[in-house]
Parts: sequence; C-alpha cells; structure tokens
Amino acid sequence: MPRYDLEGQVAIVTGAGRGIGRAISLRLASEGVSVAVTDIDSSNADNVVAEIESDGGQAVALQVDVTRKEDVNQMVQDTVGKFGSLDILVNNAGVGAVVPLMDTDESVWDTMMDINAKGVLLCSQAAARQMIKTGSGGRIINNASGAGKIAPGKDVPLGAYAASKHAVVALTKQMGLELAQHRILVNCVCAGIVDTPMWDLIDREIAKREGAPIGSVKASAVDSIPLGRIQEPEDVANVVVFLASSDASYMTGQTYNVCGGILPY
Ligand SMILES: NC(=O)c1ccc[n+]([C@@H]2O[C@H](COP(=O)([O-])OP(=O)(O)OC[C@H]3O[C@@H](n4cnc5c(N)ncnc54)[C@H](O)[C@@H]3O)[C@@H](O)[C@H]2O)c1
Repeated sequence: MPRYDLEGQVAIVTGAGRGIGRAISLRLASEGVSVAVTDIDSSNADNVVAEIESDGGQAVALQVDVTRKEDVNQMVQDTVGKFGSLDILVNNAGVGAVVPLMDTDESVWDTMMDINAKGVLLCSQAAARQMIKTGSGGRIINNASGAGKIAPGKDVPLGAYAASKHAVVALTKQMGLELAQHRILVNCVCAGIVDTPMWDLIDREIAKREGAPIGSVKASAVDSIPLGRIQEPEDVANVVVFLASSDASYMTGQTYNVCGGILPY
C-alpha cells in the first residue's frame, strides 16, 4: 500500500542486487515508482526485478559498475529510454574492507575511494545532468554509513571505508548546495549495523583476525545497539522513501542517522 506521493516517478538504485539496495528498490516499487535496479552483479539485479514484477511493479535490471563513467552515463540513458524520465537517484553501491590503516595498501584505499566515493560523484553528475536538462528537479539520496560520521574504532578496523564514507557526507553537503538552484535535493542516510552480507563479511574478517568464533563480532556489535535489535535493510528503505517524497521537500544537504541510537550525532 503506497504511503507517499511517488506514484509514476522513476528511480535508479545502485548496488541494488542485494542487501539494502534490494530493500530500497522493493520499497520504491511498492510506492509506484519505476525502478532501474542496477548492480555490478547482473544476476542478482535480475532476481530483484523478478520480485518487483511478481508484486505488480515496474523495473528494469542494468549491469553497472559505478566506477566506470561509460557504464554510469549509459545507466541514465537506458533508464530514461525505458521509463521516460529520471526523478530519484539512490547512491547505494558500496563495499567494505577490514584492514587497519597501518596495513592499508594503495589498492585497498583506491578500491574504497573508487566505489564508495567516486561512484557517488559519477552517478550524481550523470543523474543531475539529466534532471537539469528536463528542469523538473529531483532527488539524490546517498547511502553513507555511521562510519561516515565517527571512527569505527581500533577493534573495527574499517579506516579506508570510513574515509570514503566521510567523503560521501561531504559530497552530500556540497552537492546539496550546488544543485539547490535546480531543485535537486541531495541528502544522505547513515545506517548502523545492518543485517546484510556486508556485515557478515566484517564479522568473518574480524573474527579471523582475533581468533574469535564466527558470529561473535556481529553479536557483540548488536549488543551495543540501544534499540536492542540488529537493523534490517527495510529500516533504511523507510527513510530513503521519505527523503524521496514531497514530505521532504524542504530538506537538502543534510545527513540523517538511521542507526537504532548507536551514533552520538
Ligand atoms: N550493512 C551495513 O551494516 C551498512 C551500514 C551502513 C551503511 N552501509 C552501506 O549501505 C550500502 C549497501 O550495503 P549492503 O550492506 O547492502 O552491502 P551488500 O554487500 O549486501 O550489497 C552491496 C551491493 O553493491 C554492489 N556493488 C559492489 N561494487 C559495485 C560497483 N562497483 N558497482 C555497482 N555495484 C556494486 C554489490 O554487487 C552488492 O549487490 C553500502 O554503501 C554500504 O556501505 C551498510
């Protein structure tokens, strides 16, 4: 049952083949939005499209690597070709790497910055150019992370990831100011510990380093959440659809925590 006034709009979601991107795509589709489900992994994107279509929604799967400008430009072109416009971009694609900063080599750093930060820049530029051309405004919603606001700490060695997510917060602030004149609103969400394959990877990698049982790192992280449960991908999707809706029409350049209370600011 739609809750917002998004019927007939068109969205692109990056990294949408699983996890949070999948939940955002399903939720947007349930609001009547036509969704370009884009991912570097095309078979996962196909599966999400099949789920949307079986629920009566409209979607198209596109194989896109957000670090490749030609993929990203094609993504916007294909979306507009299929659905006729572009109203919403959700920059969700992201990867993590569990490596202390002192052991972080250039390839880890470059991967984090390329996918998590440059990908947001390239996709936002391509989408905003299209939105500016049609003059109808739009929304860009970035999926940063709590690691975009605070240091994850020495026991959670995600330093390069945190640097790339701080960059996403900065991109949100500056792009919000630059695009306001075009009525393109740019905002950002910072999630906490979300139950997806990404956190399973973090758990496995830290457990391996510490010689701890698989699952124990995630369990102790969940114990620290004031609301007392792990975050579900749908908790993030709930805020993304709000930020896409007209209820959020006076908000831009802002960063919102959706984290069960773990972030202090
Ligand atoms: N899981 C968490 O606890 C958590 C918390 C805060 C923020 N986030 C952020 O949320 C976003 C989604 O995370 P998730 O937990 O769903 O992760 P996930 O690993 O389950 O999904 C990430 C998706 O991104 C895709 N992807 C990876 N590289 C890509 C590229 N170059 N181009 C296009 N797609 C690519 C993957 O194929 C995958 O489908 C990420 O940006 C992540 O940093 C996650």
